Amino acid sequence: MPLLPRKKRRKDAALSTEPRDPLVGGNSPGGTAVKFGEVGIFLVERRMGSSRRSFLTELAQKKGFRVEEHMSESVTHVVSENNTGDEVLDLLEKQNGVCRTGFTAALVDIAWFTECMGAGRPLELETRHRLQVTRVAAAVIGVPISPYACQRRTTLNNKNRLLTDALKILAENAELCESEGRYLAFTRASSILKSLPYNVTRMEVLQGIPSLGDHSRKVIKEILEDGLCREVESVIQNARYQTLKLFTSIFGVGVKTADKWYREGLRTIDELRASKIKLTKEQEAGLLYYEDLIVPVTRAEADLIGQIVEGAVHRFLPTAIITLAGGFRREKQSGHDVDFLITHPEEGKEEGLIYQVISWMVTQGLILYDDITDNSYHKLKNKEPEIFDHFTKCFSIFKLKKETVNNIEPNRPNNRDSLAVNVTGGIGLAGHAETTRQVSAAAARDKNWKAVRVDLVIAPFGQYAYALLGWTGSQLFERDLRRYAKHFKHMGLNSHSLFDNEQNKFLPAATEEEIFAHLGLDYIPPRERNA
Ligand code: CTP
Ligand code: MN
Ligand code: MN
Repeated sequence: MPLLPRKKRRKDAALSTEPRDPLVGGNSPGGTAVKFGEVGIFLVERRMGSSRRSFLTELAQKKGFRVEEHMSESVTHVVSENNTGDEVLDLLEKQNGVCRTGFTAALVDIAWFTECMGAGRPLELETRHRLQVTRVAAAVIGVPISPYACQRRTTLNNKNRLLTDALKILAENAELCESEGRYLAFTRASSILKSLPYNVTRMEVLQGIPSLGDHSRKVIKEILEDGLCREVESVIQNARYQTLKLFTSIFGVGVKTADKWYREGLRTIDELRASKIKLTKEQEAGLLYYEDLIVPVTRAEADLIGQIVEGAVHRFLPTAIITLAGGFRREKQSGHDVDFLITHPEEGKEEGLIYQVISWMVTQGLILYDDITDNSYHKLKNKEPEIFDHFTKCFSIFKLKKETVNNIEPNRPNNRDSLAVNVTGGIGLAGHAETTRQVSAAAARDKNWKAVRVDLVIAPFGQYAYALLGWTGSQLFERDLRRYAKHFKHMGLNSHSLFDNEQNKFLPAATEEEIFAHLGLDYIPPRERNA
């Protein structure tokens, strides 16, 4: 027995004589927050009628579901009432220009929807919920998928993790072999699969999907058929891969250095610590705090560090703006570091700020390592020269007191100082005091703090929107934004500006939305930039 009022069936509803597009109906915007963003519902109006469609739309929105007014890539469930699967497919093809080469959204009966409303959450699809599709060719529907990551919406809800993990290993291995082309090919293939709103279970659904080369397709096919891919398994077993992956996981160590150590016969962190190999200051710190730095930073830790940074910055410049960027801005729940962007509405006020802030935090015992790079100097192990920017920044390692993570009281001004860690309580401050490579096991176990990598970037206000876009990532998303700008708009994009080669001028922007608009792209919010 349906929960909801049912519209009287119109005799002619089955005929396509409706004056308006039956797939696009009235839909109230509904101000309720979306609770289940991973599910995108599209209600087919045919045989449902517009008023019932509006009613159901509103109901679902009130319960926190995302209901799309139009068919799009973000739709995961096409819900219809009294239609066969074939009929719905025909409609989607005719009315929405949906082509068959893209992704599959599930075609489901209204029963699934009604049950979800009753449960107040999205329910797993059962066979009885799915509409029958008799024509095999029509089983695959979709809208075209762009080969540019900046034209796709990629959330963290990856439906193809088994496949993307395998491709990621091949990408990593290519990177460790300094094979840029293969690195990009596997990274792009993995990214495309991340953007699909469905789980790939057979090769046919990948027909016509861009960025999947022969090699990647072979890997996918093997995993779908055999559960694993021999090539991936052999990479995982490979000693060079294992060692280089281990060494490049040390802060300050790039592929070339890792390879050199590997060729010199080193295999483990302990062997490296025991060796007489000359290390840079950065590597010294990376090795000293290695065990902490490989533990992912949590969201709670990132928020706490945000408060510490804000406290320190506002000491010197109370109206400065501090923004969390990087993976955490994309709503990741953990990361390898925490990235902050710092600016001030009055341009010029931010100059010199980083030195004051870092010096003060050092005196408070909050910093284990810092490396301030002034403007045009860069030293990250990044593959892509144009990705470098010229901001004043600080690559640092924070000393984060463990208990503060759990019982921080926000907005208590005096709390900030109490977060400071007693300098003498530490076990060595690389870059400031001790440079011992070996942290004694006992000291490591008993310590009440954790070393955390933090990047602080200072951006002049006029470049702030570009800096924010550039430092939010993901890396592939950034890369494709630049590629798109160059190829389609004849514009040069970086983390400072956008230059229009045709008009021969820079295009100012105060917000990320304005930058997307300059590029003629739909705005993609940070949470959908996880390409
Ligand atoms: N970035 C940059 N220039 C650098 C370093 C990083 O523009 N010298 C950008 C990267 O393109 C990325 C963002 O800053 O988009 C954050 O970089 P990073 O911290 O390395 O990656 P995250 O996406 O934050 O991943 P994680 O959560 O693991 O830190
Ligand atoms: Mn980061
Ligand atoms: Mn970073």
